[in-house]
Amino acid sequence: MKNIAVLTSGGDAPGMNAAIRAVTRSALDQGMTVHGVRQGWQGLVDGQFQRLSARDVGGIIQVGGTFLGSARSAEFRQESGRSKALRHLSQAGIDGVVVIGGNGSQSGSFKLSEMGVHVVGVASTIDNDLVGTDITIGADTAINVTLEAIDSLRTTGSSHNRAFLVETMGRDCGYLAMMAGLAGGAEVISTPEYEVPPPEIAARLRAAFERGKTHAIVVIAEGVQENAAKIMAYFEAEREHTGFDLRATTLGHVVRGAPPRAFDRILATRLGVGAVKALSEGTTGVLVGYQKNEVTRTPLSEVVGRTKPVHVELVELARTLAK
Ligand code: F6P
Repeated sequence: MKNIAVLTSGGDAPGMNAAIRAVTRSALDQGMTVHGVRQGWQGLVDGQFQRLSARDVGGIIQVGGTFLGSARSAEFRQESGRSKALRHLSQAGIDGVVVIGGNGSQSGSFKLSEMGVHVVGVASTIDNDLVGTDITIGADTAINVTLEAIDSLRTTGSSHNRAFLVETMGRDCGYLAMMAGLAGGAEVISTPEYEVPPPEIAARLRAAFERGKTHAIVVIAEGVQENAAKIMAYFEAEREHTGFDLRATTLGHVVRGAPPRAFDRILATRLGVGAVKALSEGTTGVLVGYQKNEVTRTPLSEVVGRTKPVHVELVELARTLAK
């Protein structure tokens, strides 16, 4: 393996830059040349390559997002788009590709590997919904940003006897909401896997108020049916009296754009190096992830089309501790 490409795809995640840096420098260290692909899969379809040196990836380990850019490419999902990508790869003499991204991105990796290209995926998404890794690059930072918001809302909530609904990202997975809610001592956590209906949220808030609490936090994952807006509408329509004045805050992309914390920088570094190692050993069609403190490889055929749900024991834990 002499000539590799690296791309970031799907939603950006804190730590992607650190992963590009690790891929580039470890590949250069092995005598490979490295091409950065602009704008994810779309850049591969359009042949947007940029040769990367060690200096090109300097000063980015602490920066969120991805300096290569990212996109969700409809064209790459078509056979014709993938054929164009294949042509560009062969014209540039590229014999291996590292794909840093989440579920959708790794489906693309799998398809490309089925076309005979050496492809290795690196698990990166704030959602932490990928099978084949305990944790994905970006999830820890996104949890911490959500947690900071929860802590701030709790403080102002206490001053005003208010309850806050905090909606955070995660697509169809409740991991971010669950972890930030647990760390922030939330009174209620509602996730797609274990959704709490609005009447129960109302009952739990009322009970918290009657126990003498001066604030309450309800964390809502974006993937729940009854999202923050619907819950607010329910409280309005039912004129539920919880004791608290109720407000809602939707965090949205704020949780995705932060500078990566130490955990994500180190994870990205280890997985980036692990991806180059896999390619140099001739391995293809795998996801490089992190399981039980080890950098691991899982066949993409076992990863795509599946998602990892939140553990049921965490739900019980959150409920027990919300006293
Ligand atoms: O997959 C990462 C993620 O941030 C999800 O949590 C969210 O549902 C989605 O991407 C948002 O996508 P977009 O940035 O395209 O709006």
